[in-house]
Amino acid sequence: DWTPQSFVEETVEALQAQIGDDKVVLGLSGGVDSSVAAILLHKAIGKNLYCIFVNNGLLRKNEFESVLTQYEGMGLNVKGVDASARFLDALAGVSDPELKRKAIGRVFIEVFDDEAHQIEDVKWLAQGTIYPDVIESVSATGGPSATIKSHHNVGGLPDFMKLKIVEPLRALFKDEVRRVGASMEMDENILGRHPFPGPGLAIRILGDITAEKVRILQEVDAVFINNLKSWNLYDKVWQAGAILLPVNSVGVMGDERTYEKCVALRAVESTDGMTADWVNLPYEFLQNTSNEIINKVKGVNRVVYDISSKPPATIEWE
Ligand code: XMP
Repeated sequence: DWTPQSFVEETVEALQAQIGDDKVVLGLSGGVDSSVAAILLHKAIGKNLYCIFVNNGLLRKNEFESVLTQYEGMGLNVKGVDASARFLDALAGVSDPELKRKAIGRVFIEVFDDEAHQIEDVKWLAQGTIYPDVIESVSATGGPSATIKSHHNVGGLPDFMKLKIVEPLRALFKDEVRRVGASMEMDENILGRHPFPGPGLAIRILGDITAEKVRILQEVDAVFINNLKSWNLYDKVWQAGAILLPVNSVGVMGDERTYEKCVALRAVESTDGMTADWVNLPYEFLQNTSNEIINKVKGVNRVVYDISSKPPATIEWE
């Protein structure tokens, strides 16, 4: 019978036999899969696991710092690399969603390759690939594992791609990954988090991306997510986030006419992201959240709620 405990025991032994005294590099994303893969490998090979956590500048508000601190608290040997400026540069003037994904994937590989190079004599690349990724994932590009896959056929492979691959979660479904994480006493903060796309807020800012737009969306998203948590709605929702629309609309503040940004809020129920229903959030919650966003976030004067399901809409707007 499969149990998380027996999976951990058997996998740790198998990893030790496979890897021996070699060094392994792993890209952490802040998500469940790469985090659980890291903890398993850490159990197996300790300090020979070198983790790299790249800040692409498109994460949620304060996410890089707080997740990095959590990783360090779990005893992981992790290097945080703030490459925000490099990603923003590569994205300047880019509006097409697929070109955004490509730019982010390319810069991620450059940054990761630079970092992997600095680990002397590293032999393995570990990835948090899970079974649905193996049979063809919804995460097309952008995340550490996903980006690497989608660039496999490009000539002149980066050096880290010449490494041997180790994927301890390849046979597991998401709920099993969570159970494995829980059995290793990982924080609910990491195990229970919503999926977040590799390209991050870049595909939730419609049109071109600037540092100011990222700031606005981070603020809006933080109000929304924090409210979902404080209303005990976070765990009832599969994924949630905010979208910055390329639209200004007229509003009024005191005696002044305003002409500012409109944001959309999106919350969906799903099991695997392939289909999804919009969540019937309480009106009172929406009312409070909208007020708080408009009062707190400079540059936003209108909030709408997305009531489209997938199909025919998608979860993301880009
Ligand atoms: P859609 O918008 O296709 O999203 O309904 C389905 C799920 O996939 C995520 N998503 C991505 N994840 N890189 C990722 O790693 C991407 O480029 C990407 N695009 C969409 C989305 O957040 C949702 O969970």
